[in-house]
Amino acid sequence: MKMIEVENYQQMSEKAAEYIIDKVTNVPSMKLGLATGGTPVGTYKHLIEDYQKNGTSYRNVTTFNLDEYIGLSGENKNSYRYYMNDMFFNHIDINKGKTHIPQGDVSDIQKECLRYEELIAENGGIDLQILGIGGNGHIGFNEPGTSFHSKTHIVDLAPSTIEANARFFNQLEEVPTKAITMGISTIMKSKEILLLVSGESKKEALDKLINGPVDESFPASILKNHPRVTIIADKAAVAN
Ligand code: GLP
Repeated sequence: MKMIEVENYQQMSEKAAEYIIDKVTNVPSMKLGLATGGTPVGTYKHLIEDYQKNGTSYRNVTTFNLDEYIGLSGENKNSYRYYMNDMFFNHIDINKGKTHIPQGDVSDIQKECLRYEELIAENGGIDLQILGIGGNGHIGFNEPGTSFHSKTHIVDLAPSTIEANARFFNQLEEVPTKAITMGISTIMKSKEILLLVSGESKKEALDKLINGPVDESFPASILKNHPRVTIIADKAAVAN
């Protein structure tokens, strides 16, 4: 894993945006894996600013998001579909038909998991996957204990994840308890991974990732077995 240490959240976001812009410029039809949560918000902001200033085009880019809450439609403000449209897709020239997010409001969720996994494969896989990390080491919504062989699947969210994400909802009770997520093997099939880590609250997780063993009790640890991982972390997240 290659580590880039930066001063703060702002710099992490700029660096991540530069990284993505460089790839999209070189391979305009790339398959980009995207993440939600608080961490990539600044990155999307910089990508939009660059689009407005320099016109980097996303017309031929296909995107795949990591996860979605079960039970929320794309119109629900807390769904990841809404987040992605609002934070990124609505502000660039991407073809919305090429933006893929698991659908959390379909009747057959199991079938949706299979469809999503196949869709990624049919598109030739993900070229660059952007990742955040949960305080408990989750990637996507793969909670501790998830099999490293998992494909896109249904998860019961850990109480700590529900609590951490409650800040986006009016109250804790509104946070869905289940989600669809790309599996760990789905993520590991990406040709390249860019992990963004910011803030004191991620310090322990980053330390465990770098210094701990590869073990299913800490999902992100599998990234050590991937040949092309770059971590962009700010000072607050790096243990001294
Ligand atoms: C969330 C998301 C993940 C995200 C992680 C960290 O629950 N499902 O994709 O990377 O947890 O979130 P944040 O960036 O808000 O700290």
